[in-house]
Amino acid sequence: MKTLEPCTLVIFGARGNLARRKLIPALYELEGSARLPEQMAILASGLEALTREAWQEEVRQLLAGHAHAEAGSAQLNHFCQRLHYHQINPSDPQSYQALQDKLEHAETFPAHRIFYMAVRPADYPGIVEHLGHAGLLDQRGGWRRIVLEKPFGYDLLSAQILQAGLHRHLDEQQIFRIDHYLGKGTVQNVMVFRFANLLLEPLWNQHYIDHVQITHSETLGVEGRADYYEGAGALRDMVQSHLLQLLTLVAMEPPVSLTAEHLRDEKVKVLKSIRPITQNAVHAHAFRGQYERGVSAGQSVPGYLEEPGVASDSTTETYAALKLYIDNWRWSGVPFYLRTGKRLAENSSAVYIRFKSPPQDLLRAARHGPPQPNWIMLGIQPNDSLRMEMQVKMPGLDLQTRTISLDATYHQGSEADYDAYEELLLDVMQGDHSLFLRIDEIEAAWRVVDPVLKVWSMEREFINTYPAGSWGPRGTYRLFSHEDQFWRHSLDPEGANLQPY
Ligand code: BG6
Repeated sequence: MKTLEPCTLVIFGARGNLARRKLIPALYELEGSARLPEQMAILASGLEALTREAWQEEVRQLLAGHAHAEAGSAQLNHFCQRLHYHQINPSDPQSYQALQDKLEHAETFPAHRIFYMAVRPADYPGIVEHLGHAGLLDQRGGWRRIVLEKPFGYDLLSAQILQAGLHRHLDEQQIFRIDHYLGKGTVQNVMVFRFANLLLEPLWNQHYIDHVQITHSETLGVEGRADYYEGAGALRDMVQSHLLQLLTLVAMEPPVSLTAEHLRDEKVKVLKSIRPITQNAVHAHAFRGQYERGVSAGQSVPGYLEEPGVASDSTTETYAALKLYIDNWRWSGVPFYLRTGKRLAENSSAVYIRFKSPPQDLLRAARHGPPQPNWIMLGIQPNDSLRMEMQVKMPGLDLQTRTISLDATYHQGSEADYDAYEELLLDVMQGDHSLFLRIDEIEAAWRVVDPVLKVWSMEREFINTYPAGSWGPRGTYRLFSHEDQFWRHSLDPEGANLQPY
């Protein structure tokens, strides 16, 4: 465990959804694990005028219910002592000057600084520009790092423009582009699973794998984020970032080492090998949908168009599915199906890898129904798990087969579990870029989805719908390249949907 240098973490948008849901709880977890440097200060910055005491009280409320956060707990008191507040008008240069003056108090605010953009992506360029002009990014007396959330831009061109703006004030080593999926232990386990277990390697290719599915489904709706989501949609929000990152980890070649550059070199190669979707092939490769009113977790919930802040004629997709091919030796001809949606039937993220059937069907008479191929499944959430489905003989006098699931769930009850942000925040403090995105990676990911976005943005008249609480729009089966392929909804053999949907 490395000792971290004391630093000041400045959070822009500290009272927003991301900071409240993810960053502050993650920092509190790190406090509890004694991983924050002793003198570290956390300076929240927001639009509203607030005293330091009021902010500390707000955080106490926010953490209520969290482990070890009961009123009066030593951990909570210690954490609150790190907290400061600074009111900022993001478009006013004087606000940044005032911030600079405040941060000069070295005894309260350590000289190494992280600026965390927990704001709308559209606000990044302006804030960085102001930080730069106010001298807040000059690395005098200590390092300066900036953390940006995805999406980085809203297409390839805007990502390149954003990048050019950042480079006026920052060099690449100062920039940390987060894809929080890479901070999830289970996502990192995809790499461990592949590169620490030699027995998989001979099978991990187009000779044995029929197809790969990567699913992220959520029961939640847009949750008051219409302002952002209306301009993003599921393809930008989840597929361009999290799901393509998962795909790279499943598909990449073993890197030279696990250092940031070697790892990212391999991921970029995968993204560059994805067969471009031409505009007239978009319908064969992509499917979108939007949730309608329905029942989720036993409650009636509104449709997307009824959510506050959503235009009544919006065609923003809340569901997106893609079929991709990776044109290289390992994966030639193997479809990768990516799917995500809000207000779906369950909360789950998983990678499902289906193997081909044996070349000769010797056991046709020993089973009911079609052959059952092997599956390897990596459950990411809600439970991290690793399963393999195989065929065995049923006990008894007759030769009959059935499917069993080998469960290699590796998380033991007593082992500490963290959400993604704890690790990512530590990495920023350490200056380790391995789990952050390099600009060429982001550009390559935009190149994959841009043609689809372009076609969808022109088709504003119609969007398929699905009832909240279902598994998405009907008709998505048209993406499958074979009749025996279907969306798998569960890691359990009984729960796997065997119907095309
Ligand atoms: C975010 C998306 O990046 O990821 C959200 O903006 C989505 O729309 C979230 O809900 C899912 O992350 P997690 O960690 O809750 O699976």
